[in-house]
Amino acid sequence: MIGQIEEILVTREELKNKAKELGRKISNDYEGKELVLIGVLKGGVVFFADLIREINIPIDIDFISVSSYGNSTKSSGVVRIIKDIDIDITNKHLLIVEDLVDTGLTLDYLKNMFKTRGPKDVKICTALDKPSRRKVDLEIEYEGITIPDKFVVGYGLDYAGKYRNLPDVCVLHSSVYTSKEDMG
Ligand code: IMP
Ligand code: MG
Repeated sequence: MIGQIEEILVTREELKNKAKELGRKISNDYEGKELVLIGVLKGGVVFFADLIREINIPIDIDFISVSSYGNSTKSSGVVRIIKDIDIDITNKHLLIVEDLVDTGLTLDYLKNMFKTRGPKDVKICTALDKPSRRKVDLEIEYEGITIPDKFVVGYGLDYAGKYRNLPDVCVLHSSVYTSKEDMG
């Protein structure tokens, strides 16, 4: 796997520091409020685990699983709910936790969907952001690290289901995308 990395774009230390900073901010902003953090599977799971351990107020957690990419590196714009959340979010403050905002289509869809279920409010927290690729106007209240328009893997992010377990955010050699033998 290591041999397939072209460049480390964001190190594990930078990611850890960002989770700390955002966790502190969230703890202050939601003090005394009923907060539910919703992790977006599968990619958001690594950041989610880091983030919640930096939050020092009581929270509920749940997960939603969506698919918008298939095995491609380009967004299809079509969001499919694979697994919905289980808990009642009526009158709760929601914070959706994502790995990366790219076109913004996924979170725009999820935000609007959750808003129909009667929460107090719905906000967004992301580990990474590619603002240059945005297709919709999306407010991100808890903004992570801005990265350039490159396809990245690691820290939860995958290419064709692989590389999620890399601790840093990396760019792969272009050969990975052209040769299936290199995968995994
Ligand atoms: P969006 O709907 O285009 O904002 O992005 C939806 C999801 O696609 C993100 O949350 C990621 O899980 C995934 N994605 C976007 N860009 C990348 C990338 O560079 N590498 C891996 N996954 C990505
Ligand atoms: Mg994602």
